Amino acid sequence: SQRTLVLLKPDAVRRGLIGEIVGRIERKAGWTISALELRALDRETLEQHYAEHVGRPFYEPLLEFMTSGPAVVMVVEGERVIEGVRALAGPTDPIAAAPGSIRGDFGTIVRENLIHASDSEESAEREMKIFFPSHS
Ligand code: GTP
Ligand code: MG
Repeated sequence: SQRTLVLLKPDAVRRGLIGEIVGRIERKAGWTISALELRALDRETLEQHYAEHVGRPFYEPLLEFMTSGPAVVMVVEGERVIEGVRALAGPTDPIAAAPGSIRGDFGTIVRENLIHASDSEESAEREMKIFFPSHS
């Protein structure tokens, strides 16, 4: 089975949506949460995580937002969980996200879109090393 790195962003924590979002993931049959921590993310970690976006106009505001409060860092394991969590999340821009998806139900603006989930097996491996360096 697959593993994916999921972040509940600071807006999700501030708005009291941890239980709601974790619940949707937990209710999915066959998925297991194998790591979960509430954690303040530092700039250095986020620079690694968002390296592909360096130089984009939204990069600095994104890092500012991601360090604005604690986030939930998780690893979720299961059959096709990488595409599965992204499907639960919905598209990046909440305005484009359908009702029933996390971003469609709770999202406001594109930067504060509640959740991150790895987009491929490669990114999942890379991101799990960034957020859980001592984890296998
Ligand atoms: P993640 O799951 O968070 O990686 O989102 P994504 O894969 O759907 O989007 P992407 O990796 O392209 O962008 C990473 C994050 O940067 C997004 O989740 C948004 O928070 C933010 N972002 C992306 N595109 C824009 C944009 O055009 N404007 C702004 N303000 N933020 C953006
Ligand atoms: Mg992404």
